[in-house]
Amino acid sequence: MRVILLGAPGVGKGTQAKFICERFKIPQISTGDMLRESVSEGSDLGKKVKIVMDKGALVTDEIIIDLVKDRLRRDDCKNGYLFDGFPRTIPQARALTAQDIRIDAVIEIRVEDSEIVSRLSGRRVHLASGRIYHLTNNPPKIENKDDLTGELLIQRDDDKEETIQQRLNVYRQQTEPLVRFYKDIHEKGGLSYKSIDGNSSYEEISLTLLDYLEAL
Ligand code: AP5
Repeated sequence: MRVILLGAPGVGKGTQAKFICERFKIPQISTGDMLRESVSEGSDLGKKVKIVMDKGALVTDEIIIDLVKDRLRRDDCKNGYLFDGFPRTIPQARALTAQDIRIDAVIEIRVEDSEIVSRLSGRRVHLASGRIYHLTNNPPKIENKDDLTGELLIQRDDDKEETIQQRLNVYRQQTEPLVRFYKDIHEKGGLSYKSIDGNSSYEEISLTLLDYLEAL
């Protein structure tokens, strides 16, 4: 199964990706996590993209498409995968079509901007695993520590309030056109499309999405 999770920053893509990937035993391909890994390794790529990410802008299509192409060559992608945060522009989506990659389902998660700001400003993450917490909505068992490893949680540099607003603007301008792009393909019978209200609880959303994907 090949799935795309689409939606503005902070709607819960990463959170729901974990449930779906566990159920269907497919890898989560998060371009954001891959870029953050390069940043923490201090690689040339990491140094280059950190400046862009900290501003809340998008990394170039060329870099992202190369990263994803490399990732898809790994063995664990043979039975499918879930894209979280990719594609984010029309050229990125076209790069998939150009490689004859057929997507089974696109899931769009919708949440209003004021809730997004509160979710992102309270988010804490465990960098090594990508596990996601929230100070009040989903706190760790021990304050500021990852539940499984006990390692420190961090606040992402792009989760500062002024950057969040910029990321939302970028989403509206460069990523939201993908909603129409994928709905058009869906209307021609090319894939299944589901739009879901992301304001319910973690569990309710995940139950709805797992039921939907199982019925495909
Ligand atoms: P990326 O890491 O992809 O960030 P994003 O898309 O902005 O999404 P987030 O990770 O911020 O949010 P999410 O939807 O996963 O929400 P989460 O589940 O964590 O990208 C970061 C940067 O990398 C980009 O700005 C760009 O620079 C670059 N980049 C990445 N991919 C790129 C690409 N393809 N092209 C170009 N550049 C790219 O949830 C958020 C919070 O809400 C958490 O605290 C969570 O606990 C809480 N929460 C989740 N669900 C609920 C719920 N139902 N109720 C209450 N709280 C909830």
